[in-house]
Amino acid sequence: MQDYVVKDISLAQYGRREIEIAETEMPGLMATRAEFGDAKPLAGARIVGSLHMTIQTAVLIETLVALGADVRWASCNIFSTQDHAAAAIAESGVPVFAIKGQSLEEHWDYLDRSFQFEDGPNLILDDGGDATLYVLLGARVEAGESDLIETPTSEEEEVVFAQIKKRMAQSPGWFTKMRDQIKGVSEETTTGVHRLYDLKKKGLLPFPAINVNDSVTKSKFDNKYGCKESLVDGIRRATDTMMAGKVAVVCGYGDVGKGSAASLRGAGARVKVTEVDPICALQAAMDGFEVVLLEDVVSSADIFITTTGNKDVIRIEHMREMKDMAIVGNIGHFDNEIQVASLKNHKWTNIKDQVDMIEMPSGHRIILLSQGRLLNLGNATGHPSFVMSASFTNQVLAQLELWKNGGEYENDVYILPKHLDEKVAALHLDRIGVKLTKLSSEQASYIGVTPEGPFKPEHYRY
Ligand code: NAI
Repeated sequence: MQDYVVKDISLAQYGRREIEIAETEMPGLMATRAEFGDAKPLAGARIVGSLHMTIQTAVLIETLVALGADVRWASCNIFSTQDHAAAAIAESGVPVFAIKGQSLEEHWDYLDRSFQFEDGPNLILDDGGDATLYVLLGARVEAGESDLIETPTSEEEEVVFAQIKKRMAQSPGWFTKMRDQIKGVSEETTTGVHRLYDLKKKGLLPFPAINVNDSVTKSKFDNKYGCKESLVDGIRRATDTMMAGKVAVVCGYGDVGKGSAASLRGAGARVKVTEVDPICALQAAMDGFEVVLLEDVVSSADIFITTTGNKDVIRIEHMREMKDMAIVGNIGHFDNEIQVASLKNHKWTNIKDQVDMIEMPSGHRIILLSQGRLLNLGNATGHPSFVMSASFTNQVLAQLELWKNGGEYENDVYILPKHLDEKVAALHLDRIGVKLTKLSSEQASYIGVTPEGPFKPEHYRY
């Protein structure tokens, strides 16, 4: 029986050719295959993956398989799948459930299907926390907390609960069984990591978690340099607008905000930043950006991008004030950064996939990208392979650690040790011709390190 859902399996060959190109740009993952592949250290691991089904993710999946894992995969966003990547993975025999433009109902159904190993999964590889949420929420409902399910607070929650009810009716006790056999989760992004620390704080984390996001070689590279390349790519593919000279507002100046502001500045836009944190506001100012209140620039700027991981950042009252044809988009993980739900009763005109024009009561129109979902993956193809290689090498090391030594960890959230972070960086130097200076042993002892590293104390911030 066909054990995948993809848009068009005949795209597999095209996907395979792009995977082959990506492999040449993902030295960390390829080195991991060379180092560990023969020993099959992930034999017996059954990994459920919930992460954007792109070409780069295909190289990650095939690395996990090369290390001996059984893998099933869903995307973590309804717009981020690259259908040719999904087709190539399906054709290789890995069950994948992902279509660009799938509905929310399909999203949660596909996630459920990715859990359906014969004996269930024993590891989760998550991006944003949906796979973790699914199994933990289901188990809580099974344990009698059914009041949870009676009070959905959003359209998406209604869909999640409907999916949980469906699974409970089909397989009573399933969520509890899954929760109890999961050895751990590795989490890709800031938003998913927030959810994990929150679970830990509430005493609701039933297995160890590795926070991949806060490896330096993840958040200080993917979130920053990745967005620096992929933000403007998304805006251009969506709108073909002239960027030079336009006024762009970036909400949030964390890692994603720093990359996003640099992206827009690089394209010639005049960039303003909003922040709530005085440290990040000062950084933005000293990087040369005007730090403003959204209210003060909302009627004069041309492009608005949210990067906060927070909710209700661009609200309906802001969008009503915007000038005609202002572009509005989000590059944070979830769509609630922009109050898209409050636009539902406005006039929408679909321009093309993931680009909508919405008319305000004043007659002004805004262009909304990817319905407020992360636009670099919805309107373009996400970050380039090279930076994703660093992120995903951390993911593979985290899965290896959970599989081999997970039993030695508490049910807490951990970061990979610094020597592995440095190793991930080191694996990416040759590809771009970087020559690393060697410390003499005298120099090393003078600054209190060893010539082999780690080169910085834990508290160093990069
Ligand atoms: P971060 O925590 O480094 O930065 C977020 C910043 O937003 C903080 O400096 C915070 O003070 C600021 N902020 C919060 N509320 C605000 C408000 N109301 N107005 C203005 N500023 C506000 O987080 P990071 O790593 O930059 O991630 C941000 C989001 O992007 C997360 O949802 C993350 O999961 C997602 N992400 C998306 C990627 C993509 O490719 N689209 C890649 C990596 C992360």
